[in-house]
Amino acid sequence: MYVQAPKGTQDILPSEIYRWHYIESLIRELCLIYGYNEIRLPLFEHTELFTRGVGETTDIVQKEMYTFDDKAGRSLTLRPEGTAGAARAYIENGLSSMALPLKIYYYGPMYRYENVQRGRYREFWQFGCEVIGSQGPEADVELIALLSALFSRIGLAKTDLRINSIGCRACRPVYHEKLMTFLEPKIGRMCPDCRDRFTRNPLRILDCKQERCAEEIAGAPTSLDHLCPACAAHFEGLKDGLSILSIPYKVDKSIVRGLDYYTRTVFEFYSENIKSLGAAICGGGRYDGLIGLCGGPDTPGAGFSVGVERLFIELGETGTVIPKPKGADVFIVTAGDRAKAVAARLVSELRKNGVSACMDLNGRSVKAQMKYADKLNASYTAVIGDDEIDGGGVALRKMDDGAETAISLDDLSTYFKKGR
Ligand code: HAM
Repeated sequence: MYVQAPKGTQDILPSEIYRWHYIESLIRELCLIYGYNEIRLPLFEHTELFTRGVGETTDIVQKEMYTFDDKAGRSLTLRPEGTAGAARAYIENGLSSMALPLKIYYYGPMYRYENVQRGRYREFWQFGCEVIGSQGPEADVELIALLSALFSRIGLAKTDLRINSIGCRACRPVYHEKLMTFLEPKIGRMCPDCRDRFTRNPLRILDCKQERCAEEIAGAPTSLDHLCPACAAHFEGLKDGLSILSIPYKVDKSIVRGLDYYTRTVFEFYSENIKSLGAAICGGGRYDGLIGLCGGPDTPGAGFSVGVERLFIELGETGTVIPKPKGADVFIVTAGDRAKAVAARLVSELRKNGVSACMDLNGRSVKAQMKYADKLNASYTAVIGDDEIDGGGVALRKMDDGAETAISLDDLSTYFKKGR
């Protein structure tokens, strides 16, 4: 019995990696166009970064983190998301001395111990962007514009953008009080987590997934109705900016997001098929207090992350075809030991010229090599045996129509170089 992959993880196989490369290259291209530079962050961080940054009363910290002690007894956690790590890196590397706002993106795996189902995994990939050091709604608009551009480039026409504002340090205490007054008579009927959150962080109750809690939450006062003038103006700025760019949106007062660092803008993108999984394809917002909370200077920030597997689910359902890469340019089939030596030199020369060339590594018969070349989807094959070596010429066979071209062995590498 072999050891299987852990539940909630997936192998990305060679036969499907082209789809990932395709999305990745679109992402990198778009980030370049929008002026975002890649940052590569550690896969694990000190646990405290997430308890502080993401928030102790969130589901992520309470239930979903892969936390372990290393051999020196430090508590470490596999990153459940990228924003806290980006904030830490900003502080630790003195990135505030760079041109601000700092515009960065990351692309990599995240880890959450979640109930595994379609579109919800324990290891999953996120593409995320962060703008650090910009307070105005223009940054929020740019982030959303980048996402819209990504979705339209990959053929997700029907995405549904929902925006909300959850206020700031100034207006939140007033709102919290209103919320607690509303929840107080109901809290006894809610789940133990919500009862715990009632005094520690009442806003988190609005994010509870339990059915009995959802019923009690209905009709709760909303943050959007309790914004201070500065937050209200910021939200108006966001809406205006989206309208200027003709990006459609819906204001959805129920969006509070599942992480504690958000202030003001929060948003989610839904798409037809992902919505049926009860989940968003992407989420983000503003986090003006996070850098300060992580021990850095008070610095505003905003960002988003897209779930890459969810992108693929959506793409699969919409029937978007991702172009398959072609196979090797040429496969040199060998008959006999002399041919092997000649082919080895030839393949090496072709490769030096940037031509994708392969030959048999397993001592197969000519027929089996032809079959193998076919499976590799090689564009051309050339069979080399004693006759070809002595005569100095070879028949180059085009695999899709079987057409053959006589060509001298010496000319083979330059023939492909011409871009055949
Ligand atoms: P999040 O909403 O927790 O936000 O995750 C963002 C996206 O990651 C989700 O919309 C979803 O597509 C994907 N995702 C989350 N959990 C899973 C899972 N278990 N399986 C598959 N996909 C998943 C954040 O992570 C924030 N850091 C976003 C952000 C960046 N806010 C500001 N900057």
